Amino acid sequence: MPLASRHLLGLEGVPKEDIQLILDTATSFREILERPIKKVPTLQGMTIVNLFFESSTRTRISFELAERRLSADVVNFSADLSSVKKGETLKDTARNIEAMKIDMVVMRHAAVGAAHFLTRVIKAIIINAGDGTHEHPTQALLDMYSIREKLGKIEGLNICIVGDISHSRVALSNIYGLKTMGANVAVCGPKTLIPREIGKLGVKIFYSVDEAIKWANVLNVLRIQLERQDRAFFPSLREYRQYFAITKERLDKSEKQITILHPGPINRDVELSAEVADSEHSLILQQVLNGVAVRMAVLYLLGTRSESK
Ligand code: CP
Repeated sequence: MPLASRHLLGLEGVPKEDIQLILDTATSFREILERPIKKVPTLQGMTIVNLFFESSTRTRISFELAERRLSADVVNFSADLSSVKKGETLKDTARNIEAMKIDMVVMRHAAVGAAHFLTRVIKAIIINAGDGTHEHPTQALLDMYSIREKLGKIEGLNICIVGDISHSRVALSNIYGLKTMGANVAVCGPKTLIPREIGKLGVKIFYSVDEAIKWANVLNVLRIQLERQDRAFFPSLREYRQYFAITKERLDKSEKQITILHPGPINRDVELSAEVADSEHSLILQQVLNGVAVRMAVLYLLGTRSESK
């Protein structure tokens, strides 16, 4: 069965079967990444534009590698070097790029809803690589893939997202995806960094990280996004670290082996101690590797779905 939607804009409303299909397809692509020649001709002839209006290391390189490994033609757009600098709008930028006959756009943008907007102004397939504080669906998919790979399942696990929930697109996509896949989901952080209405999404809330650690099998630790904070949400980084950092001392109090995820980039020794980040608890670099396979799966499923229409 093809995916229900021709775009990937977020995980809100994406059916369980589609998430399952993406994760299962990623398993086949993950195997290709271990081969000496890590390339298949699957998307030969397709042209994909990576439209990044915000900085990125992991997502941009991961998408580009995934596209090249599938033999697509790849064009990279960076807002800083484009006519956006001269005042060109997102709509005009996208329509001009589409006029050059492209098939797919992967976009990161600071505005919530930017990827949805793009689906209304151009005909290409759109993949959201992060829109403001809204969603980052491929990050949540690679997080779920990494949890399933390590722990053998997602359903029934206690998974807590820790940190700056309010400013995080990773948190929202993880909540939608994990709940669809049957996990028990919680968030943990200072009251000022947890949206007031979050309980309506069916998540537990912890204000004590030690309580969260007692409950969880997996902690997905988020970066404190100082660049998105227009006022002080906690007194100091030192105080944040004292009450909310995931440290070895805190994890050692738990009888369970807790798996640690972080989408990156990490503020080492702020939300996560360097010791834990580099420990056997951590899946961080595995997440990055799995991200290429998951993005290959998304590109393949969307690219071939449109071909068959
Ligand atoms: N996880 C993530 O989105 O990282 P980048 O901002 O480096 O793409």
